[in-house]
Amino acid sequence: MGYRVAVVGATGNVGKEMLNILAEREFPVDEIVALASRNSLGTEVSFGDKTLKTKDLAEFDFTGWDIAFFAIGSDATKVYAPKAASQGCVVIDNSSLYRYDPEIPLVVPEVNAEAVDNYKNKNIIANPNCSTAQMVVALKPLHDRAKIKRVVVATYQSVSGTGKEAMDELWNQTKGVFVPGQEVAPKVYPKQIAFNVIPHIDVFLDDGSTKEEWKMVAETKKILDKSIKLTATCVRVPVFVGHSEAINVEFEEPLDWQEAQAILREAPGILVVDKREAGGYITPVECVGEYATYVSRIREDSTVENGLSFWCVSDNLRKGAALNAVQIAEVLGKRCLKKG
Ligand SMILES: NC(=O)c1ccc[n+]([C@@H]2O[C@H](COP(=O)([O-])OP(=O)(O)OC[C@H]3O[C@@H](n4cnc5c(N)ncnc54)[C@H](OP(=O)(O)O)[C@@H]3O)[C@@H](O)[C@H]2O)c1
Repeated sequence: MGYRVAVVGATGNVGKEMLNILAEREFPVDEIVALASRNSLGTEVSFGDKTLKTKDLAEFDFTGWDIAFFAIGSDATKVYAPKAASQGCVVIDNSSLYRYDPEIPLVVPEVNAEAVDNYKNKNIIANPNCSTAQMVVALKPLHDRAKIKRVVVATYQSVSGTGKEAMDELWNQTKGVFVPGQEVAPKVYPKQIAFNVIPHIDVFLDDGSTKEEWKMVAETKKILDKSIKLTATCVRVPVFVGHSEAINVEFEEPLDWQEAQAILREAPGILVVDKREAGGYITPVECVGEYATYVSRIREDSTVENGLSFWCVSDNLRKGAALNAVQIAEVLGKRCLKKG
């Protein structure tokens, strides 16, 4: 016996990937519905070898449905997630709306699977920001061994993290650069993204950081350990899919690169590709469509006590969003919503 599952935002980047991953991982589904805005009524989306016709979220009654994967913006989530939750359906939400609510669990299964049990507080579980998810998967096993004091991270985030319109903007600008008179003005981003990098993701805060940078700090503390100090610089790069991160860590205890590599090789969700030669590392195009968080370039940082640097890459639509959400549902199924 399986679950009755709703995918909300099924026409979007994350929603489509959610449907792919539910099918790939053979999530026990008895019935599945694809929901989006009224504009997408009847739009066909794929679920394995089946085709689903998208329904209007505004008209949908979640009574009798077990799990709803939400992948729409925060404004629409604010309207529809509480409705679904109050109708008895467990919401697993990809927006940032509920991540910092102390009553709502924020879960990366490789790190804090047991937090799923607190879904009962509001019938909602939050999925973290894409850049946080892959980073905490890599940090957790190292933290367990040598206790992290401080993290300095710079991100190189793909445009799919902003949604489907941003992918179109990169594509059209890239073509336009080569055709005189067909240059495409920035619309989704404040500056040209093609052949450029933009050190600005989400809104600016009073201290000069951005909300994306703040999210990495707040979410790492909530998921992994509130004592960890973290500073981030988040940068948008002209890559379609796959977020990369240059991570520098200071530990309480010594940890050499060989041991860090061995620990990461055994850790759940991680693949180490670290050959210390040309091409012996992972780049974002190689992680597209994969489940793993890849770690490369592991090396000691002798400028601080017990320092280590590494490179971390993952498919932001998968581990950064849809895969993590489906893994949460798998944990929920095992621990809380047993069927059959
Ligand atoms: N992309 C990532 O890497 C990533 C990672 C983590 C979290 N997230 C979060 O996941 C969510 C979705 O992101 P995305 O990248 O998939 O965006 P997207 O490609 O722009 O897709 C947005 C989806 O939301 C639907 N939608 C928007 N407003 C709606 C409304 N009022 N009622 C019903 N459906 C509505 C759209 O339906 P229509 O097609 O009908 O407009 C579409 O299916 C966002 O909250 C985002 O912050 C994204």
